[in-house]
Amino acid sequence: MWEAMGRQLRNPEGLGGRLTGKFMRVVNRTPNRLAVDALDLAPEDVALDLGCGPGHALALMAARAATVHGMDQSETMLGQAAQANRLAVREGRVVLARGEFDRLPYPTGMFDKILASNVMYFWKNAPGVLAEIRRVMRLGGRLSIYVTDARTMRQWKFAGPDTHRLFDADALRILLRRGGFENDRITLSPVRLSGGIHGLLATAETRPLQSNP
Ligand SMILES: C[S@@+](CC[C@H](N)C(=O)[O-])C[C@H]1O[C@@H](n2cnc3c(N)ncnc32)[C@H](O)[C@@H]1O
Repeated sequence: MWEAMGRQLRNPEGLGGRLTGKFMRVVNRTPNRLAVDALDLAPEDVALDLGCGPGHALALMAARAATVHGMDQSETMLGQAAQANRLAVREGRVVLARGEFDRLPYPTGMFDKILASNVMYFWKNAPGVLAEIRRVMRLGGRLSIYVTDARTMRQWKFAGPDTHRLFDADALRILLRRGGFENDRITLSPVRLSGGIHGLLATAETRPLQSNP
């Protein structure tokens, strides 16, 4: 049962996937809000929610940015995200696409801001995904990441090694550096959520064209 739940969190499908989407909308509210706040969205920004799931963060982002793209591998999640953002989708302020983390279906330099909330556990080739993120982000753009810390994840039976890769603060920083982000452009803070959950909030920026090292 726990393994099945882990698989649904990685790739929600069918009835189980729809229920998982409803569950995520509730339990991921606070991490999503914190990670969206850390993006510091501006009204002219074009933003991406990577692994948008049921679309809760998309709604927060669409209220602050010009256009927000949501990408996910799961048709079930894209359906829920479309329903949750009906008006914004109709107005073209939220745009949804099916895609894979390691081959982002977007042109180079398209995004000012990119959110990756509760998705890093599923990056099989994390440096490759980070290279794709840097490719689609404009120079001077910002990535915001939320992951639940490994010390909490280890207590959750659904987060087994077959479905989830776990991170502590050091592992997260090392990975961001291996993925091409410079150390002085990375921020990392522990966050404490209700229920005693330990989370990690990170931002990483690409260097603007005109800035000197
Ligand atoms: C735990 S959910 C998080 C959803 C949302 N970001 C949130 O915080 O509520 C993980 C999401 O990542 C998506 N996902 C997992 N692996 C993926 C991949 N390789 N490519 C694209 N999406 C993927 C899943 O379909 C799922 O919607």
